[in-house]
Amino acid sequence: MAESVRTLISEEDVDKRIEELGAEISRDYAGQTVHLVCVLKGAVFFMCELAKRITVPVTMDFMSASSYGSSTKSSGVVKIVKDLDEPLKDKNVLIVEDIIDSGRTLSYLMKMLGDREPASIKLCTLLDKPERRVTDVKVDYTGFEIPDEFVVGYGLDYDQRYRNLPFIGVVEFN
Ligand code: IMP
Ligand code: MG
Repeated sequence: MAESVRTLISEEDVDKRIEELGAEISRDYAGQTVHLVCVLKGAVFFMCELAKRITVPVTMDFMSASSYGSSTKSSGVVKIVKDLDEPLKDKNVLIVEDIIDSGRTLSYLMKMLGDREPASIKLCTLLDKPERRVTDVKVDYTGFEIPDEFVVGYGLDYDQRYRNLPFIGVVEFN
């Protein structure tokens, strides 16, 4: 089956929105240090761009959780593949995610990381598909709300491909 990618959000629009989010986060965390927690691998492009736009002191750590196999359907199972290197105690944690779909991954992670006694814990996602939600998740910063379509680019993959696209696109199967 042949596939192609249609642009949903241009590189320019993504960059502009990340700049706005960075400014908003910088205002909200004024006088504090924000500890960014990147959920690998999808959020890595977004987190790097966002971090560059934040003007308060930033520290960062990375973790990897998997809820998907190599298909476009959620298995509903969240597995911690790589945990954080540093403790979260007394830090202002901002979890950075690429996309919230069913919400299962993030509701699990928020609970797990919240138990590590951070001073605060918030969530920032580049993309949100609210129609798909099955588990309640409080999102503090959202880049874009998108319809229920399978998207790639800016870190998001289809079967590990397309992460390096500088825009958000929809995979179409022809
Ligand atoms: P959730 O647990 O269903 O919210 O799934 C979240 C994870 O599923 C994201 O971090 C992505 O890795 C993956 N995912 C969900 N929707 C898409 C999509 O449209 N494109 C690529 N990955 C997706
Ligand atoms: Mg992800």
